[in-house]
Amino acid sequence: MSKSKLWSKTYQTMHSDLEDLFKAHKFALASYSFAEATWMLEVYGAWLSIHIELEEQDLMPIFERGGTQKHWPASTYLREHAKIRVLLALHTQQMSVDYDDPRDRLLACLESARRLQHLLEHHHIREEKSLFPTVQEWIEEHELVAVNQRAKTQWDSVRADTESEINRAKSGVDIRWQNLTQAARLLT
Ligand SMILES: [Fe+2]
Ligand SMILES: [Fe+2]
Repeated sequence: MSKSKLWSKTYQTMHSDLEDLFKAHKFALASYSFAEATWMLEVYGAWLSIHIELEEQDLMPIFERGGTQKHWPASTYLREHAKIRVLLALHTQQMSVDYDDPRDRLLACLESARRLQHLLEHHHIREEKSLFPTVQEWIEEHELVAVNQRAKTQWDSVRADTESEINRAKSGVDIRWQNLTQAARLLT
């Protein structure tokens, strides 16, 4: 009988939720909604930190049972986690820098967001291509439920805490965007 892959679906869901939230953060930036973009990035940082902790505490020990039969060693993932934290801190710092012209602020923030996103995209692909399949291979039957349960419980809880506020912030950004496009139409 093949082993349940429910835990890896939960981890993939975390990746797609993180990607969706980062996109919402960039939409807020593109709409010059800096307050909403800053708040979304704060929430994103909290989500990402939970996700990384789960991977390091629950998946890495299982992954290491695979020895040398994997594309990348555990140190590659851990190094990327450290670099992701640094780029997130730099992007967060950039978000708080004020400029005389908001267009300069937007361009600087999009650039620091791009650097972080570039690494995250590669990191998620690497994990889905090698980390998750290796863990699936080496995880014991009795660990399947606990690994999934711990990730799912923490993720559901952090999402439930922020979901309605995220939706409210997204609506504010949409209104701002409509106002901007309306103003642009009046100028042409
Ligand atoms: Fe990771
Ligand atoms: Fe991940």
